[in-house]
Amino acid sequence: MKSFLNVKDLGDLKQALDEASEIKKDRYKYCELGKNKTCLLVFFNNSLRTRLSTQKAAQNLGMNVIVLDVNAGAWKLETERGVVMDSDKSEHLLEAIPVMSSYCDIIGIRSFAGLKDRDYDYAETVYHQFVKHSGRPIFAMETATVHPLQAFADLITIEEHKQKARPKVVLTWAPHPKALPQAVPNSFAEWMNEADVDFVITHPEGYELDPQFVGNAQVEYDQMKAFEGADFIYAKNWSCPGVTRPEQYGEILEDYHKWLSWTVGARQMAVTNNGKFMHCLPVRRNMIVTDEVIESPNSLVIPEAANREISATVVLKRILESL
Ligand code: CP
Repeated sequence: MKSFLNVKDLGDLKQALDEASEIKKDRYKYCELGKNKTCLLVFFNNSLRTRLSTQKAAQNLGMNVIVLDVNAGAWKLETERGVVMDSDKSEHLLEAIPVMSSYCDIIGIRSFAGLKDRDYDYAETVYHQFVKHSGRPIFAMETATVHPLQAFADLITIEEHKQKARPKVVLTWAPHPKALPQAVPNSFAEWMNEADVDFVITHPEGYELDPQFVGNAQVEYDQMKAFEGADFIYAKNWSCPGVTRPEQYGEILEDYHKWLSWTVGARQMAVTNNGKFMHCLPVRRNMIVTDEVIESPNSLVIPEAANREISATVVLKRILESL
């Protein structure tokens, strides 16, 4: 595997889940695979889980790890070609990428959406610059439009906790005071469409996700109706994806105070099938989800985060096997 951005990059999902299960039983089974190989993790944005779990995964496989926080100690990077570089950005990505790749064998990238230019974000411009100019396998640690390591961990968690062969899984929008990217809901939708689940997406009108990720999912604008009989509730905020309202791409459409009834609480969970609560974290309590629900025995947020180590170990193992 030379690039990890979308669910298709992993091939057969059942096989990938079996591999995840095998690695979870013995996460050091392939500790020789990465000997004398170096994994570089490049962060253009903050992280807790991705930073720690991906480092741990690389170490499970015996790799050396270098972490670069671009905005903390490195030169500020220009990403646009053709720009007269008279701002505070001292180095261009087009030199920085081949320099970085000269020190490593695999590169992970975290580079969020700017939420200003939909075409630029949805073309995954920064990610593809790394693919083109590094000569190294590149994997996404949340890019402008996707977060596949998270979605893979989410799927592993659902597999581990499901009580029936084909559970009902609901992705619900929830209110938030700041505009957030669509990467997590995009990937969650993309991966659920490939999984053996009944998948429903619920959000207020105007927040329609890009059709390439929605696929065949049922879209229900009534949150309570969507929650009925659900086995898993996956909450996340996202800003306007600009599908039905291109001019509002990346915006919060209405003051979040108007949408606090969408905060996931006991009222909504009561109509589920004793549903499990999921969120990728970090989460704003009593905005996305109430204290009561996130602290309940049905909350999976901690095992879900722990599975980030497993999803990253599978992905890095696959990449190492392709070197
Ligand atoms: N879920 C997730 O990616 O967390 P971080 O942003 O802390 O890495």
